[in-house]
Amino acid sequence: MRVLKTTALKKYYGSGHNQVKALDGVDLEVEKGEFVAIVGTSGSGKSTLLHMLGGLDYPTSGKVEVDGRDIFSLKKDALCIFRRRKIGFVFQSYNLVPVLIVYENIVLPIQLDGGNPDEVYIQNVVKLLGLEEKLNNLPSQLSSGQQQRVAIARALAAKPAILLADEPTGNLDSATSQDVLELLKVSGERFSQTIVMITHNEEIAQLADRIVRIEDGKIISGTRRTPVQTLAARKKSSGGGFPEQKGKGGAYYG
Ligand SMILES: Nc1ncnc2c1ncn2[C@@H]1O[C@H](COP(=O)(O)OP(=O)(O)OP(=O)(O)O)[C@@H](O)[C@H]1O
Ligand SMILES: [Mg+2]
Repeated sequence: MRVLKTTALKKYYGSGHNQVKALDGVDLEVEKGEFVAIVGTSGSGKSTLLHMLGGLDYPTSGKVEVDGRDIFSLKKDALCIFRRRKIGFVFQSYNLVPVLIVYENIVLPIQLDGGNPDEVYIQNVVKLLGLEEKLNNLPSQLSSGQQQRVAIARALAAKPAILLADEPTGNLDSATSQDVLELLKVSGERFSQTIVMITHNEEIAQLADRIVRIEDGKIISGTRRTPVQTLAARKKSSGGGFPEQKGKGGAYYG
């Protein structure tokens, strides 16, 4: 099932000689459960693309569909609500609320949205990310890697349609980066979570199901994965998958 689609997506900044074509006609499709890495040199348009995918900024032209919804056709308030419910963000800076303990940080977006956290699911996420012992700690009492794991838990907690990550390990040393990325990948698989992640690091990109290369605002490879290669299809063909999800049609998706 396709969860994300962009059509002829463009974002131009400025005009005339100063015009920058940050995105110049991007067509990208992502299947549910896929883990996609976006790579490219500095200034190639990666962050701009991620901002458009998450509805954080408006394109100059083109379309972004998330879960079948043309997000920029929504009014501003509706887009804000859609974003809160359907999109999880993980940035290089963890953006945790310093006066709230770890658990409160994790469930904050759900509470802001007036929802009730799915405690069983959240405990599973917390356990997988190795944060059980830290739930009552303040962010300042955690290591950098632990703080980023909290940010990942927070992004997963609302069961978003897509999790978007911009250089999530940019502030971490290489061993911690590898650990955090492995956990992100495992979480994605465990909870059938679609992940689109920007990275500069080719080694880290290799963890993804697919690598999309972007140059001068254009995708130069990896636009689309053929359906037969999707994670779900692979699990099915290998007889794998997670027992508690079998036959529930994506029970973790609310
Ligand atoms: N608000 C803005 N106003 C003008 N130009 C911008 C703006 N934001 C980004 N750009 C330009 O758009 C291009 C793409 O920027 P973007 O931040 O998407 O690159 P990036 O691939 O994420 O780079 P990096 O790897 O350094 O984070 C760059 O040339 C940048 O200077
Ligand atoms: Mg960037």
